[in-house]
Amino acid sequence: MTRAHALVPAAGAGDRARRDGNKVLAAIGGIPMVARTLTALEHCSTIEAITVVARAGEESRIASLCHEWGVGKLHRVVTGGAARSDSVRLGLSALPAGVEVVAIHDAARPFVTPDTVARAVELAARQGAAVPAVPIIDTVKLSEAGERVERTLPRHALWAVQTPQTFQTGLIRRAHAEAQRLGAALTDDASAVELLGEPVYLFPGDPENLKITTPLDFEIAEAIARRRDGAEVPPLRTGIGYDAHRIDPTRPLILGGVRIDSPFGLLGHSDADVLTHAIMDALLGAVGAGDIGAHFPDSDPAYRGACSLDLLRRVTGLVAERGYMVSSIDAVVVAQAPRLAPFVGAMRVALAEALGVGEDCVSVKATTTEGMGFEGRGEGISAQAVANVRRCT
Ligand code: CTP
Ligand code: MG
Repeated sequence: MTRAHALVPAAGAGDRARRDGNKVLAAIGGIPMVARTLTALEHCSTIEAITVVARAGEESRIASLCHEWGVGKLHRVVTGGAARSDSVRLGLSALPAGVEVVAIHDAARPFVTPDTVARAVELAARQGAAVPAVPIIDTVKLSEAGERVERTLPRHALWAVQTPQTFQTGLIRRAHAEAQRLGAALTDDASAVELLGEPVYLFPGDPENLKITTPLDFEIAEAIARRRDGAEVPPLRTGIGYDAHRIDPTRPLILGGVRIDSPFGLLGHSDADVLTHAIMDALLGAVGAGDIGAHFPDSDPAYRGACSLDLLRRVTGLVAERGYMVSSIDAVVVAQAPRLAPFVGAMRVALAEALGVGEDCVSVKATTTEGMGFEGRGEGISAQAVANVRRCT
């Protein structure tokens, strides 16, 4: 998977918004617009780091908003210029070495989704330059003076383009340098690439990825934020997980990351930690992110003998990427033997560490089935878990 560096121009004056100060610092649903944009990018797995271009004098405000809102991917805050294209050029020259794809995304578009970003990054990696586009709704007339109509443009061939606009880094640097040399006035970055005669590709944008420009846009943004922050994403979610592994006398028994004193272990592609597997599935279920089979396929040799606790750390990261944190885990291991009670404390400590929560948030229980079923006959061990997560953005 290609990962990109996000470059976020936030250095405008926001004149058309008619607010006091830069519109990107104004709150939408109680959260500063730029904080929404940056946390949206923070939660995109295709973005590896973020550079923000701030208006002169607003650099430290942007940096402290990043701190306050947990934008850990922040690379740098740089000072912008008079026109948007100046700000982008200054941002491009401040990127770290080795960035292959850059996603330029306006701070004024706080409702961007990970899907749009992922699509844009993938296309730029393959084709050089990609922009999200939505069909034009109004009929568009051409009139240089804004009086008499010169002609009507064919609406089916017109597209309103949004950001993130994504580019191979060398290409967009060359393009902006050329635009500067020509003194071209640009309203987006793709047009700099067009000046070079290089191709730019459209892909379907998202009508909700609105650029907040006018006071009316702020009213619409409040409505979108209310839905997104409220009903659409519930603040608390629950997931369930189940797993079972066959007994194997040649392997060690690992449960909840703890090596258990036992004459047998469990068969599996990874370390066969059935308890940790059930917990991972519960967490993935809670955030609607599929199951461990999809994330860590056992057909992939990378996971042969994998430490399940390491995989749990990755799942915890994924939960955070989706904007949630782990509240509590309750789990039960079903095994006829060995006796697990002496190991439960150590399992809770190990699991809590991997989950980044206190030990009191992790409960592990063990039971037998009084000889009934596959666990009772000593053919296998199973585990069930419930995970509760709460929204943190
Ligand atoms: N931008 C920038 N540097 C500039 C001008 C704009 O970084 N010199 C940024 C804005 O902060 C915004 C994005 O580019 O995130 C898109 O610009 P626009 O929506 O036009 O914002 P403003 O220029 O701030 O608004 P206005 O044109 O109404 O003054
Ligand atoms: Mg502007």
